[in-house]
Amino acid sequence: MTKPLDGINVLDFTHVQAGPACTQMMGFLGANVIKIERRGSGDMTRGWLQDKPNVDSLYFTMFNCNKRSIELDMKTPEGKELLEQMIKKADVMVENFGPGALDRMGFTWEYIQELNPRVILASVKGYAEGHANEHLKVYENVAQCSGGAAATTGFWDGPPTVSGAALGDSNSGMHLMIGILAALEMRHKTGRGQKVAVAMQDAVLNLVRIKLRDQQRLERTGILAEYPQAQPNFAFDRDGNPLSFDNITSVPRGGNAGGGGQPGWMLKCKGWETDADSYVYFTIAANMWPQICDMIDKPEWKDDPAYNTFEGRVDKLMDIFSFIETKFADKDKFEVTEWAAQYGIPCGPVMSMKELAHDPSLQKVGTVVEVVDEIRGNHLTVGAPFKFSGFQPEITRAPLLGEHTDEVLKELGLDDAKIKELHAKQVV
Ligand SMILES: CC(C)(COP(=O)(O)OP(=O)(O)OC[C@H]1O[C@@H](n2cnc3c(N)ncnc32)[C@H](O)[C@@H]1OP(=O)(O)O)[C@@H](O)C(=O)NCCC(=O)NCCS
Repeated sequence: MTKPLDGINVLDFTHVQAGPACTQMMGFLGANVIKIERRGSGDMTRGWLQDKPNVDSLYFTMFNCNKRSIELDMKTPEGKELLEQMIKKADVMVENFGPGALDRMGFTWEYIQELNPRVILASVKGYAEGHANEHLKVYENVAQCSGGAAATTGFWDGPPTVSGAALGDSNSGMHLMIGILAALEMRHKTGRGQKVAVAMQDAVLNLVRIKLRDQQRLERTGILAEYPQAQPNFAFDRDGNPLSFDNITSVPRGGNAGGGGQPGWMLKCKGWETDADSYVYFTIAANMWPQICDMIDKPEWKDDPAYNTFEGRVDKLMDIFSFIETKFADKDKFEVTEWAAQYGIPCGPVMSMKELAHDPSLQKVGTVVEVVDEIRGNHLTVGAPFKFSGFQPEITRAPLLGEHTDEVLKELGLDDAKIKELHAKQVV
């Protein structure tokens, strides 16, 4: 089967999550991904939170499918020479080393271009080149803090909160892949490669765009009327004092308030007392107000000016949500979802990770995939989130450390004697 990235050779210098998520996705799309790992230890995540003895962790196996692995000491003269040969044949190099590490190894962008003017060098760093913090190393949750996600997530009486979604890591990797695909397309036009970089801070901020909107609204108007803090006697600080926008100058944490353009909230369903995930997210979309009134048996609110416009109901949103919740008391989250669907109202259950892992629909559509792994045993991963009409990604297990060292060196033209010598010198 022809694959979108057939024939694209990727040298993968990535580790942990941000870079590996990018190169794994390129592997799903058919690229030839060679992961170059530190000799003897490899990607540090191989050993992180192992659930079975003597096998690579699920962290590693879930971010490194569809790749081959070679061990290489890039700091030895022979290692550098091998790397030069590999760069000459590569289309894309992807790295997320700490700031300056590639330069310190002698592989500056200028030198890489000399070796191969068509190659694309793709990097993830914590901060953008030229930013005052560009020298800092960064991990996932640090990026959630630097990019505005943490300050705007959580409840008003609690600390800044990080998301369970890898907004700093995988999200940066996905942004990087967009940049790589654009650079490959541009290479068709110019014949030259280029450097493309994603800062984790920027990738997070790109997803927190709507909160930057709110900051500008707040500075202009002094209030964010749809936030819980603007509701009379709804939000209280840690000392029990009611909150208002009188002293709020930066976008506050809005709990579960709808972030986009329509107010929403997390509503309890039947069984919430014992099931932590027995909730639905319900949105009061302005154009659906009549259907919502029918659904909750409040037809008189349809024509009541105190309710039938956003401006009319905005100061009683939380009361309206509380009322709707009473209607959900005898229905579970799936029943509520179907009930709302009958009125054309978008509403969805909070899916637990257990439910997602075992959801037959997700397995059927190829989003949750069982990876065949004869070494650590089969396990689940998340497949490609995009679906094509003309191609179906196949997921193959992550490589063992150095599993393909000899194979890749032979493809470079080295003979058995030379490979043996490089092993003896501990270069590979
Ligand atoms: C993730 C991160 C914090 C890890 O930091 P770290 O463990 O100190 O690792 P570094 O990437 O800085 O690399 C450490 C050293 O190993 C060296 N190294 C890595 N692979 C090597 C190899 N195959 N052969 C020889 N040396 C190697 C690097 O050259 C570097 O050496 P130097 O600092 O002496 O020049 C850091 O890489 C980082 O900030 N990356 C950018 C942002 C990012 O992607 N964050 C993580 C998202 S999941």
